[in-house]
Amino acid sequence: MLETRSALLVQLPLLALATAPLMAQSNSCESAVVAAPEMPAAPDVLAARRSALLETIGSGVAVVPATSPSRQLDGYPAASSDFEYLTGLELSDAWLVLSGSAPDENAVVLYLSGNAATEGPMAEAGAVTGIADVRCFSDAPEQLAALLRTDGPSTPGTKLFLAMGMRGVPDADVVAAVDTAGLEIQNLRPALARLRVVKDEEELARLRRAAEVSALGAAQGMRSAGPGLGEAEIQAVIEAEFRAGGAPETSFPSIVASGSNALELHYDENISTLTDGELLLTDVGAEYAGYAGDVTRTYPISGTFTDRQRELYELVLSTQEAAIDSVRPGVTIEDLNRIAREHMAGHSGDLCGEETCEVYFIHGLSHHLGLDVHDPGLPNLPLAPGMVLTVEPGIYIPAEGIGIRIEDDVLVTPDGHEVLSTAAPKSVSAVEAEIAKSD
Ligand code: GLY
Ligand code: MN
Repeated sequence: MLETRSALLVQLPLLALATAPLMAQSNSCESAVVAAPEMPAAPDVLAARRSALLETIGSGVAVVPATSPSRQLDGYPAASSDFEYLTGLELSDAWLVLSGSAPDENAVVLYLSGNAATEGPMAEAGAVTGIADVRCFSDAPEQLAALLRTDGPSTPGTKLFLAMGMRGVPDADVVAAVDTAGLEIQNLRPALARLRVVKDEEELARLRRAAEVSALGAAQGMRSAGPGLGEAEIQAVIEAEFRAGGAPETSFPSIVASGSNALELHYDENISTLTDGELLLTDVGAEYAGYAGDVTRTYPISGTFTDRQRELYELVLSTQEAAIDSVRPGVTIEDLNRIAREHMAGHSGDLCGEETCEVYFIHGLSHHLGLDVHDPGLPNLPLAPGMVLTVEPGIYIPAEGIGIRIEDDVLVTPDGHEVLSTAAPKSVSAVEAEIAKSD
């Protein structure tokens, strides 16, 4: 994650909007319809995910809303990728309720509203999700209260599990809808993160393609860039390559930052003109079948690195290689961060004056990839086969207007790792050769 040390540089969450428009809630169950996802996971895969989550809540009750009111984008609640992970659906005004003490046939209930109007009736939701018990959203608060017995004598120790935000605040619409007095509310997020962080074969196939298409887009950017062109033109050719590769959406707003624009970690205005002698940083991601790629390359607009640019670039590159070489089961992202920083500090020479260049490495090294570009993970969770993470060191020197970042997408394998984004050239010679191919 581009987690910054500076409050000014704190990242904005990169989230997808719910696909369904927000409309007034219908009281009629019969009008409830669902948004059919492009490529939902198979119902048995979704059912296995829900069963695994059920095992973590004991006799408690978990509610997963379809949107996260606490994560608003332009006034719209952001779609919850937790809900999508467990149901295959992208909706607004829907809840998934898991109950550890309900009879098996009612242990998983999907509440849908009539306002997620796109395709198909409630029965379709049952078929897509594999959930037999699909009910009307307007009944959800009352039925949840009954399940939790907040409308009667409370059951000692009844636990309500909700995903909580950074400040431990649970999803507001659930708490507002149900009297939670006397209930023990627990954070569902760690259990969700533990599940989501290890990808199954289907997810890995999507992530592989997302990384490959992202890298192909980055390489296309290299072949297209040159002095006098606009950053937006490079963005356009990169995103056209994504579309040609079967990925019509980006996994986050493309960052095409020339010169000192690269000092702003999430610069995405892309309004400057490429200038001879400067570097261009592209940090771009294709979303393939719902899954996110995230690849950064930095290269000379002229086609050839200056000595200074090359020396800094090679320090970032060797730092990235040291970290990638260390990716294997059992290692943590914290370990990788330390390895990268020690490498950069130890190999800076006098490149950054009296300081080491590590002082200019102002963000975190890695984040997990999945349905979200910043997919859930847990601090200090040892890496395990099936996890996919970015490795993205950088050096940002404001006094020189230089920002350099190199980012690849890396799969953890039983024996070590596999880099999924090799289609984007990376060594100095390979980068300069790719730019020379100009098309
Ligand atoms: N690629 C943008 C980020 O990792 O925040
Ligand atoms: Mn990233």
